[in-house]
Amino acid sequence: MAESDKVFAGSIPKFYDTLMVPLIFAAYAGHTAQRVAAASPHSVLETAAGSGVVARALAPTLGADARYVVTDLNQPMLDYAAARQGRDARIEWRQADALDLPFEDTSFDVVCCQFGVMFFPDRVTGYAEARRVLKPGGRFVFTVWDRIEENDFADDVTNAVATVFPHDPPRFLARTPHGYHDIAVIRQDLRRAGFAEIGIETRAEVSRAASARDAATAYCQGTPLRNEIEARDAGLLQLATDRATAAIAARHGEGPVAGKIQAHVIVATG
Ligand SMILES: C[S@@+](CC[C@H](N)C(=O)[O-])C[C@H]1O[C@@H](n2cnc3c(N)ncnc32)[C@H](O)[C@@H]1O
Repeated sequence: MAESDKVFAGSIPKFYDTLMVPLIFAAYAGHTAQRVAAASPHSVLETAAGSGVVARALAPTLGADARYVVTDLNQPMLDYAAARQGRDARIEWRQADALDLPFEDTSFDVVCCQFGVMFFPDRVTGYAEARRVLKPGGRFVFTVWDRIEENDFADDVTNAVATVFPHDPPRFLARTPHGYHDIAVIRQDLRRAGFAEIGIETRAEVSRAASARDAATAYCQGTPLRNEIEARDAGLLQLATDRATAAIAARHGEGPVAGKIQAHVIVATG
């Protein structure tokens, strides 16, 4: 993973929350929240919470005396999330690296992480940290994207942006968000971290945007793909977004667009 892959800062939080979240993350947030709420938890830790889409779905389902600690590596994402959430005395916002959690052992009933583990430089360590802070019998609920070919717009954007930089194509989307989808590897990593019971559901959803340009702008400007494009030539960000727009429009039409997205939803215990 490139160092820039985990940098969600600058103008990324705003583009991420306003364009990326409605495009692909909101579709899974309700489902993630349901999996967490099914445990009727009194204490929940969320890691890699980003701009807070799961927090907005989950907080209303938790009890009045619940403790919900919402964390992310990048403070700008958390700031964005906290501002959108509004006051809620049950929620603590805290900057934290999921690989080195600043919490005591056996503190939480549930740990959840929506589309964050792909960014962990060492997943076994991240999973072991989640397990360490779980109470006995607690559950770890998380999601990862399936391979990029199962995720239409991400694939279109990656192929289109490659035409702008043919000798050094930016591969962020294939390498990181869509780079950890092998169920056998996920099971093995969870077992190495000590989890015994592992359930995995592969779930397809539909990604929708008002236009091909909105979808292209979300991927090119609201994710670390932007860092990768700008590192090559900041002056080509608009051209890359235009090429991605044309590619999505060619496959999915002018006007509102819809494409397939697919992810694995994992619940680990023990
Ligand atoms: C694709 S976003 C997902 C955000 C959110 N969970 C959602 O569903 O919209 C990935 C998030 O992982 C965070 N992240 C990356 N590395 C991390 C780490 N080591 N520990 C905690 N968070 C991390 C990033 O800051 C970013 O907010």
